[in-house]
Amino acid sequence: MRRAIIGGTGVYNVGGKSTKKVIKTIYGSVEVDIVEIDNEEIIFLARHGRDHSNPPHLINYRANMKALDDLGVKFIYSTAAVGSCNNNFEPGDVVVITDFIDFTKARPITFYDGGKQGVKHTDMSDPYCKNLRQEFGKKARVNGIEIKGEAVYVCTEGPRFETASEIKMYSKLGGDVVGMTNVPEVVLAKELGMCYSAIGIITNWCTGYKKDVINLHDIEGSIKKNKELITKTFIDILRKDLKQENCMCHKAIIEL
Ligand code: HPA
Repeated sequence: MRRAIIGGTGVYNVGGKSTKKVIKTIYGSVEVDIVEIDNEEIIFLARHGRDHSNPPHLINYRANMKALDDLGVKFIYSTAAVGSCNNNFEPGDVVVITDFIDFTKARPITFYDGGKQGVKHTDMSDPYCKNLRQEFGKKARVNGIEIKGEAVYVCTEGPRFETASEIKMYSKLGGDVVGMTNVPEVVLAKELGMCYSAIGIITNWCTGYKKDVINLHDIEGSIKKNKELITKTFIDILRKDLKQENCMCHKAIIEL
């Protein structure tokens, strides 16, 4: 079974020797890097495109995930740049995302649109693979990454940032961090029976949460500070013998 890393904002490669490959899917074409590390292959996909040319609301999430599926990928780690609306998580911190609240509005959200495929629903008890989350916790400690905690991710439609009142509401509803891309990515992974985990890199305080205004230099700095250790940790785990029997991700489809 193959493994992949999806790089979010600021993470456009994972080092190593790589070959580009274009995968054609029914949803569109996707360019990936096949990275060779000690005779093992890991697929790398830049979520926004290598030149960060796809804004969050226009990313072709279905093409991205179908391309990984066509390559036989079953295990995925990803990074997500996020704002914080939780006092415990400051810019520069790293969190493990455990759940999401979906505030997206206008994106294709599923591979299952009825017709020949029938009506299918996907279990969201554990949207983010429990096993991959635990593995990240263990390996991060060894690699010297301080995980600040577990976080509920609020996904907004973007590309605009949120208003202060929206952030107040998200925080009251139980959100810890806010981003624009993890839905539907995590959902589509589950629909394909993949194990998927996202690690949040806090890049800023959300709008109105503190006195600061959102600053692009802070965003770049927080990503730079963490990206190498996080991608090294992903690779250390993905090179191990991972098993899908350790979680329920491959059995998430509920047919009526
Ligand atoms: N809001 C939404 N998405 C983000 C933010 C934010 O504050 N920071 C990084 N991605």
